Amino acid sequence: MATINLKLEIWRQKNTDSLGQLESYELENISTDSSFLEMLDVLNEKLTHEGKEPVAFDHDCREGICGMCGAVINGIAHGPEKEITLCQLHMRNFSSGDTIVIEPFRSKAFPIKKDLMVDRSALDRIIQAGGYVSTNTGAAVDGNSIPIPSQVAELAMDAAACIGCGACVASCPNGAAMLFTSAKISQLSLLPQGQPERKTRAISMIETMDREGFGSCTNERECEAVCPKGISIRNIAIMNREYLKAILTEG
Ligand code: SF4
Ligand code: FES
Repeated sequence: MATINLKLEIWRQKNTDSLGQLESYELENISTDSSFLEMLDVLNEKLTHEGKEPVAFDHDCREGICGMCGAVINGIAHGPEKEITLCQLHMRNFSSGDTIVIEPFRSKAFPIKKDLMVDRSALDRIIQAGGYVSTNTGAAVDGNSIPIPSQVAELAMDAAACIGCGACVASCPNGAAMLFTSAKISQLSLLPQGQPERKTRAISMIETMDREGFGSCTNERECEAVCPKGISIRNIAIMNREYLKAILTEG
């Protein structure tokens, strides 16, 4: 089993109101087969054993599905590998002697709760503002009874892949949540089930996004570059069209 020795610089912060700072740690004999979160588990066991406070970080599925994990690794949200979440990053991507800087997802709308944990509930409130279908569609219908062109189905499925991790927000110099919001608006605007609330959804979700303190898009494309699910900024163009159409016709 190959192992590596690492120096870690980790952001430590007691709570939202306190000041934080980077603290240094050394870890030896980390298996290159372990995941990044398992490496943090090893560190936390060591810290606990030494009677020190373990590093707080969010995680749940550890399979790239739930969207709970996330940190900025050497300046890149979710780390250096394309289209994966932090829990899917493995230590074989690092070399012995490396220094790894680990920071929380920073953004005005994501207050730091503790260490690497940030409050991403602003994203939940955007979804609560319209990211659902409230029409009672009854029991599940036969697969082919509502024909949807395969190209449209593909676009909707691609947008539906968003797991709400917030890496797009953390990477955007404007702290915008436009990739996240547009993924949901775009997905539902493409499907028949999304039509009844199409206009009110676009207006309500975008207004909530603004109210929550997220910035605006200036086409930096940093969001798309770090998104673990490959969500395209094409969805932002769809969202802007949806919003324009909605305000022009809804008044
Ligand atoms: S758009 Fe991508 S980066 Fe943003 S919340 Fe969804 S999955 Fe995460
Ligand atoms: S812990 Fe669920 S996506 Fe990483």
